[in-house]
Amino acid sequence: VAPLVALIGFMGSGKTTVGRRLGQLLGWRFADLDEEIVESRGMTIPQIFSSEGEPAFRGYERARVATILDSLPEQEGLVLALGGGTLEDAETRAALKARAGLVYLEIEPEAAWQRARGSGRPLAQGKKAFEELLVSRLPMYEEVADWVLPASGRTVEELAAEIAEDLGAARDRWAAAWGRRLRATGRPSVIVGGRGALDDIASHALEAGERGRRAFVITDVNVQEAWGRRVNSLLGPMAQAGGMLVLEPGEETKNVSALESCWDWLAERGARRDDVVVALGGGVIGDLAGLAAATYQRGISLWQIPTSLLAQVDSSVGGKTAINLGTGKNLVGAFYQPDLVIVDPETMKSLPEVEYRGGLGEVVKYGLLRSEGLLARLEDDAGRIAARDGETLSELVKVCVAYKADVVEDDEFDKGGRAVLNLGHTIAHALEVTCGYGAMTHGQAVALGLLPALMVSERMLGLPSSVRSRVRDLLVSFGLDVVVDIPDTATVIEATRRDKKVVAGSSGFVGLRAVGDPVWGLDVPAEVFADALEVIRR
Ligand SMILES: NC(=O)c1ccc[n+]([C@@H]2O[C@H](COP(=O)([O-])OP(=O)(O)OC[C@H]3O[C@@H](n4cnc5c(N)ncnc54)[C@H](O)[C@@H]3O)[C@@H](O)[C@H]2O)c1
Repeated sequence: VAPLVALIGFMGSGKTTVGRRLGQLLGWRFADLDEEIVESRGMTIPQIFSSEGEPAFRGYERARVATILDSLPEQEGLVLALGGGTLEDAETRAALKARAGLVYLEIEPEAAWQRARGSGRPLAQGKKAFEELLVSRLPMYEEVADWVLPASGRTVEELAAEIAEDLGAARDRWAAAWGRRLRATGRPSVIVGGRGALDDIASHALEAGERGRRAFVITDVNVQEAWGRRVNSLLGPMAQAGGMLVLEPGEETKNVSALESCWDWLAERGARRDDVVVALGGGVIGDLAGLAAATYQRGISLWQIPTSLLAQVDSSVGGKTAINLGTGKNLVGAFYQPDLVIVDPETMKSLPEVEYRGGLGEVVKYGLLRSEGLLARLEDDAGRIAARDGETLSELVKVCVAYKADVVEDDEFDKGGRAVLNLGHTIAHALEVTCGYGAMTHGQAVALGLLPALMVSERMLGLPSSVRSRVRDLLVSFGLDVVVDIPDTATVIEATRRDKKVVAGSSGFVGLRAVGDPVWGLDVPAEVFADALEVIRR
């Protein structure tokens, strides 16, 4: 079927101008829903609003969208700009979601107001009401968007070109694809995802290969076995010119000597600054190869192809790279944004169950941090998630990536708000240290760490205890342990103190006031800690 691009976003975000330009670039028809309604009703939008009211207008939108979907051209695609509130109607939303790639032009409230004021639009009469409306619609846009493009301060030309590029790479899988452009200092990151996203490598490799760039793939034995050949053939000549370095799997590989092996390998094979390091694997490979890319010749291009759930929802996004020292985890590293992240949930077909479950610990963390809506969705979909249902998983990874990207955009260098991502981690790290690394996956430790963190939140922030029992049930349904043999409370508390010292100057403990409302920098009294640990003692 021919692709349908539906542009969504608040009024003033540029849907019509960007859509029109995109249509020109692609040689496709462009339709503007507002304009079509004005034409068919013979009234302006303010006239329809004042004489018939908003619900009638939404009804016209619904009918018009149905007509458009019924009469889509067979061969060429269509670019459709929606109204700011079109997707508030559940029926219209479902119809578009099933058929279109929904591209969200994300704009700051102030910039939107500057563009929309004085336009005569019925919902842009006063600044306060306008901004309130924007804030109230944000969760809906974030929820439905397949592609997120930061639009503030960007030109129509840039935005249209980016969408055209995403479309070109996704081609036949457009309706199932999703992605995000991450606003980051210096190195903007393109994240593309969805079932089959791995195939996008081919078009990126073709383009890079034409410019003489070569791919240096760094992976581990397990991932090489499952995906090495496929990725190599998608990279084509770009990989033949570069090569593949296959390392031992596991956390132990994230060390100085493996990093040195990466540097030596790149240097011996004559890698240049315009070449690309491709990190193919879980978080260990992503962190290690990412640091190699950040440092080799002071930084060469990096593509991340995360293959574990933890790497897809967490470590591949946000630009943190690191290795461990004998004295502690992640002590040496750099912030280095990948140019491209390809997140294909299908690559998790070969992921061992214990690793998959571990990743779900981080996913539950996102549910708690982001919203009641996401937490409830995890509960509703728990069976399908545990069974790795392809479509459910793709949507889930998309939402987690979007949340992480939002947090990173607000605090790329981890000086404040990014600390919320450590929910459950203070205790997780202490458990990893006291129970011994390797005794459980990191994600399993996070899952365990969440429960005492919620208990602390009940005591210090008034979080209702119902959240903790819901989370416990959810973790159990994902096959995660919710109790553990705690050697001795004092040792664990001591380990959390040491963890804090390691991150001296950073933000301490993370708790929740409510689901979707995290607080960082809590100073937790030892007795509260001790009590909280009891909730996971076997
Ligand atoms: N940079 C960040 O922001 C960030 C965030 C969170 C965690 N991390 C780091 O991530 C690491 C943990 O990542 P992880 O859990 O992915 O561990 P990992 O990379 O060790 O992968 C886990 C295991 O699964 C195997 N594997 C991965 N994908 C596979 C696949 N598709 N098929 C078959 N086997 C596969 C690996 O070979 C390995 O044995 C830690 O070192 C942690 O510090 C980094």
